[in-house]
Amino acid sequence: MSNVERTLSIIKPDAVERNLTQEIQNIFSKNNLKIVESKKIHITKEEAAEFYKVHQSKQFYSDLCSYLSSGPIVVMILEGENSVALNRKIMGATDPKNAEDNTIRKLYGLSIDKNSVHGSDSIENAKTEINFFFKD
Ligand code: CMP
Repeated sequence: MSNVERTLSIIKPDAVERNLTQEIQNIFSKNNLKIVESKKIHITKEEAAEFYKVHQSKQFYSDLCSYLSSGPIVVMILEGENSVALNRKIMGATDPKNAEDNTIRKLYGLSIDKNSVHGSDSIENAKTEINFFFKD
């Protein structure tokens, strides 16, 4: 049975700054994740705070919001079979130190903060996150 779904991906400032956008997008394409929308934007700290509000109780919240708004990012809608779980597998563990070989964070991540990419962690959050950046 086909289970085509959509997820939200963000290429974070550290990766955009190092011109890794195309390489990361090629990894998605090679893994059958189709990029159906993509745009480069620079958000405010307030917008980052709204996007990451599920983390508002965490001690790293303020730094996280400052970081996501520190430079241009590329936001994308990815579509494919089990895309939420597949994207998380391709990204690797949140902390690049713990990420498996050949995952995006292992290849390009610099630290737990500068970990190059974000991906939705559930189908429900994917819908909310897609709507956040791609409201018609
Ligand atoms: P991301 O998948 O974008 O979701 C929240 C982000 O918070 C995460 O990636 C990390 O970059 C960042 N972060 C910073 N410190 C931590 C931490 N201790 N645990 C989890 N995420 C953290």
